[in-house]
Parts: sequence; C-alpha cells; structure tokens
Amino acid sequence: MTISANTVEADVNGNVRLHEQAKAYTPGGLHTAIRIIDPPLCVRRSQGAYMWDEDDKRYIDYHAAFAPIILGHCYPTVVNRVIDAIRQTDLYGISTTHLEFELSEKIVRYVPSVEQVLLCCTGSEATFHAVRLARAYTGRRKIIKFQGCYHGWHDYLLRNVISERQVVNKWDPGSAGMLQEALENTLVCRFNNLTDVEDAVAKNPSEIATIVLEPIPHNVGCILPKQEFLEGLRAICDREGIVLMFDEVITGFRHHIGGYQAICNVTPDITTMGKAIANGFPIAAIGGKRELMQKFNTRVGGDVFFSGTFNGHASCLAAALATIDTLEGGKVHEHIFALGDRMRAGLNEIIGRLGVPAMVAGFGSVFTVYFMEQRPIEDFDALLDNDAALYVRYRQELMRRGVFEIPMNLKRNHISYSHTEQDVDWTLSVADEAMRATFDARAAGLV
Ligand SMILES: Cc1ncc(COP(=O)(O)O)c(C=O)c1O
Repeated sequence: MTISANTVEADVNGNVRLHEQAKAYTPGGLHTAIRIIDPPLCVRRSQGAYMWDEDDKRYIDYHAAFAPIILGHCYPTVVNRVIDAIRQTDLYGISTTHLEFELSEKIVRYVPSVEQVLLCCTGSEATFHAVRLARAYTGRRKIIKFQGCYHGWHDYLLRNVISERQVVNKWDPGSAGMLQEALENTLVCRFNNLTDVEDAVAKNPSEIATIVLEPIPHNVGCILPKQEFLEGLRAICDREGIVLMFDEVITGFRHHIGGYQAICNVTPDITTMGKAIANGFPIAAIGGKRELMQKFNTRVGGDVFFSGTFNGHASCLAAALATIDTLEGGKVHEHIFALGDRMRAGLNEIIGRLGVPAMVAGFGSVFTVYFMEQRPIEDFDALLDNDAALYVRYRQELMRRGVFEIPMNLKRNHISYSHTEQDVDWTLSVADEAMRATFDARAAGLV
C-alpha cells in the first residue's frame, strides 16, 4: 500500500502507520537499533535545516542523522556534484580512480596526523581496521577504551557506552553474541583520568596495542577533554610503544577541517573519520603515520588485510569532495560555531530564568541540555545524575512543537550551515515553552 501525505488517514497518523507496516518486513521496522523513538517519526523529505514527516509536518532538524549533516539536508552543491559524477562514473573494483586520489590528497593535506589514508564506507569499519592495524604493528592484543565512548558495532570496541549505573566502568558488553575474548581484551578507563590509564598500563605491561578515544566523547552528549589528559595519553603512548588512536568520526570535519586534533594540537598515530566528511553520504576513512599505514596489504608486501567492495564509490567521493571544498576557508565553521554559542547562551538564559535543575553542554556546533544541577562534566560518572526521563520528555515536548532533537537519553544535537540566526532564535522560544511544559509535567507526576 502506498501512503500519501495528502490522505486524511496519513494526516492523522502517517508516521505510526508506516512504522507499523515496516515491522512486517524488518525486525522492529527499523534498520538501525538506535532509530527507535517514541513517538515514531518517519521522514519523507528534507531540505536545508528542515525535514517533513509522513503527515507533512515540518521539523527543524538538530539530530542531523547522528551528525553527518554539516551543510544541511540535500545541500545543492553536494547533490549537484554527486549527480555530475554518477552520470559518468560509478564503481569499478580495480586499481584507483581520480576521485579517490583527489579525496585522499585533501584528507592528507588537512588532517595533521594523516600521512596516508584508506577509504571505506562506515565508521565501524574504520575503527575495526584501526584496531587490527595497531595489533599487527605492536604484536600486542589488549586495547584501552573509555567509558561512554562509542566506536561502532564490532566486538573489539562495543562495550561500556551508555552503561547502567551498576555496570559503569565495569563489565558492560554492548550486545549478545560477542566473543568473550574480544571483550576481555578491551579494557575500560574513565575519560580525563590519567591515573586510571597508568594503572591499566602498569597491570598489563607490554600488552596494550592501542588507546582509543573520541577526543570529545559526543556519544554521551559532550565531555570536554582536559588538555593535560590528551597530552598525557600522547606521552604514555610514546613511552610504552602504544598506538594512540583518535576516533574523529564525529569531531572530524565538524569541529575543524583538520579534526579536533587540529584544535588541541595533540597528534595521534591513527585517526578514524566518517560522518561529516560527506554531508550524509556513506564514506569513512582511516589515516595515520605512513609507517603504520604501509602495513596494509593494499601495498604489495603489506600484511594487514584491507578491503571493501563498495570502497571509493564515486557518489560518496564526489559528496566528500564537495563537502570539503565548502569547508575550505573556514566560513562554515565560523557560522556553525557562532550559532552554537548563540544556542548555548540562549538555553543557559532560559534555564537560569526558570530556575530549573538543568545545564547546557557542548562545543562548536554541538549542544545538549542535561537535566541535573550545574557541575563540571569530566567523565561518564558525572552524567549518572542526568534525569533521563526529563531529558526524553523535554525532547518530546520540542518535537510536538516542530523542533527535532532525537528523544533518546544523552544524545547530542548538531547545527548545520543551513541553520540561521532566526532559526536558532525561534528554536529558543520553543525551548522555553518545552522546558516549562516538561517541568509542569514533572510537577503533575506525569514524568
Ligand atoms: C565516534 C564514532 N565512531 C564510530 C562510529 C561508527 O560509525 P558508523 O555508524 O558509520 O559505523 C560512530 C557512530 O556513531 C561514532 O560516533
């Protein structure tokens, strides 16, 4: 059955109905676990800062598909470049293409740690390859990650992301069916805590292959790194022969064309990138020191396997080139950082005026509101007092009023180049109402 946004039925409940229909063919009706939201929202079309649902209701979008959309939805420069490219080229599975060469050159030019780069399709692939490379390079098995960071769906790194209180910093596999050995070889430390890292290294002498981190753990909103923490990790890795890996799948290109490493001036050995690199097209990258990258067997004599049928599809390469071209010169970052500041200042003003227990966090174009008393946020433990029910309710109140911030606990929001000052000011007026409605609902015992 085809659903038209113009039918009376669809006007009543088009999103719920499409989602229910999809369940017949797909478990849960969704193609990614964390797309489950209440109420369901099925997007039919989008443009710039906006998207429209099955009932043709308009939302201003700050979810940005979990971060890739940095320029705006269906951004004309990107769309046109993709169309031009795929009119004449697509995918060959042999040798190299001019577009692959051009994109690789740009990434090497802009990202400080990247002397050589390989392209793949998703961030999970990039982090998987990076871990395997680090193990092969060091001849060691163990890896260190941080509580609250997410690096993709594979067994090597899927543990201790948004953990329940009783398992924070403890045993928290992200899925059934994971290999026990993989989980046991992934150690978990507190973010911003060098003592934790030193302890883990001391307890596992000459066994740690890599330390992996999101330089800003955005998978739980925004935990800003202390500069001495990042520099300390660099020093530990240098001292112990450990590969330092920055997972810049969110921060790369969104915070700076050279990634967060270009802002903090700490250079990792390997960097993974994805998301904002192509404004929503599926492409990712792993790059780093030549000495490490030369181990991949895309070079004759390399011994670390690397492949992917769809690596380097022309549509994604063209999208990435158009996106990076637009980021060059810094105008985009200037705009989205200024709007990020405006949004955070406005939200702080609302919270202060209403006197509610909430606080604003963020960096650059990323912002979120935690529902707890103001405090420094240095690690995941600090977020345990966030009131998840209020957090979700606030976002449902926003959604009802046409502002989309995904209603899931600890998820961040993103501003794109297509958002305007007027958009932010309107969003703030809606946020004011939504905040009051949220605390009224709490007072009435409804949350
Ligand atoms: C920091 C980080 N690394 C890796 C990934 C995995 O990327 P993908 O979903 O493209 O596999 C994500 C996805 O959210 C991420 O946020």
